[in-house]
Amino acid sequence: MLPKFPLSRRQILFLGLSGLAGSAAVTAGKVVNTNSQVQALYNPQRDFKVVGQNSLKQRAASKGIIYGAAVEPEFFQSNTPFRASFLKDCGMIVPENSLKWTQLRPAPERYDFAKADWLAAFARAHGMLYRGHTLVWHNDIPVWFKEVVNRQNAEKVLVDHITTVSKRYAGKMHSWDVVNEAIDPESGRSDALQTSPWLDFLGPDYIELAFRATAAADPKAMLVYNETWIEYDIPKHEARRKATLKLLENLLKKGTPIHALGIQSHLMAHEKGLNPKKLRAFLSNVASLGLKILITELDVIDQQLPADSAVRDRMVASVYEDYLSVVLDEKAVIAVLTWGLSDRYTWHASFLPRSDGKPVRPLPLDFNFQRKLAWNAIARAFDQARKR
Ligand code: G3I
Repeated sequence: MLPKFPLSRRQILFLGLSGLAGSAAVTAGKVVNTNSQVQALYNPQRDFKVVGQNSLKQRAASKGIIYGAAVEPEFFQSNTPFRASFLKDCGMIVPENSLKWTQLRPAPERYDFAKADWLAAFARAHGMLYRGHTLVWHNDIPVWFKEVVNRQNAEKVLVDHITTVSKRYAGKMHSWDVVNEAIDPESGRSDALQTSPWLDFLGPDYIELAFRATAAADPKAMLVYNETWIEYDIPKHEARRKATLKLLENLLKKGTPIHALGIQSHLMAHEKGLNPKKLRAFLSNVASLGLKILITELDVIDQQLPADSAVRDRMVASVYEDYLSVVLDEKAVIAVLTWGLSDRYTWHASFLPRSDGKPVRPLPLDFNFQRKLAWNAIARAFDQARKR
């Protein structure tokens, strides 16, 4: 069912969202909502108390888990309070866009590493880990690509890009999202692969090729396959989990140097299908392949939640804590990255605006970098997690 408000094609592409139904209102403190999940999320008595003063980074590290967030240099450069909050809470930096083809490659023969280098230096200067996102993504193709790349030169273009970029940070990169979102069970292909220029030119082996090229350029980095929409107990996600597992098994069978699965975790607060048992089973199936797991782009879509920010924050916090308490129970989960730290800098504002026009509130810190209940929820999940 298409969403109520017009999402652009681009937004639907990015989100692959279906079933955004209902809208929520709060009258006299009671959530009136056609979506039973939204009603279930509203528990004014739920306790989000946090013990002690430790930061998210400290609480995670005490259990052997890394916590960090996606960011861009301009967020720091225009905001010292944000910089202070980021340094306090985050132990890892991932560039939200600076290491993507569309940002790195203004022209076929030109790389622009200025922003990615700035973030790498910032991470190093503050003793933070640095992670790369992403070397191959069908949604991240520069405008010049179709004029320049063809069946004959595609392998060289791909390997040259991966080698140039991953060599530059070799030995300093905690992990790379080598390939992002390569499956699509709805593509109609028997291998359930997502259509992509790389698949067209090189066939399914482009994925193994990308991992081998990255391993050759940076033998120290943890190499991650990053996937989305595999979190809920809904048919679309179930099919994607199955296809993801199949892909990982096939890659490992061929000896592909792949070390971890990244689960993006753009959580849908209006979706009631969080099934702890199924999610845990999936995570342990991945771990049994000998892979680590990273929660790579965590945030909570609050589009269908009530306008009232106090009510909405409570619901978003519930989604964070319910999800993290399940995934952190799997000891192969070694890192949690939120896709941003503050509501002031979130992709939701342009890609997932609320139909009532109110500012979105998906992240641990509010627009003025103050902690929200979401911060408490993440802190509590780290505090309750078993030590790695
Ligand atoms: O840098 C240009 C700027 O020069 C130009 O003026 C401006 C206006 O068009 O666009 C700027 O580039 C934008 C870029 O973000 C940097 O702000 C792109 O248009 C815009 O498409 C891009 O959006 C990013 C999106 O990925 C596509 O790369 C979002 O910020 C980012 O949060 C989002 O993140 C993705 C992950 O990489 C993969 N998983 C899903 C996640 C959410 O879509």
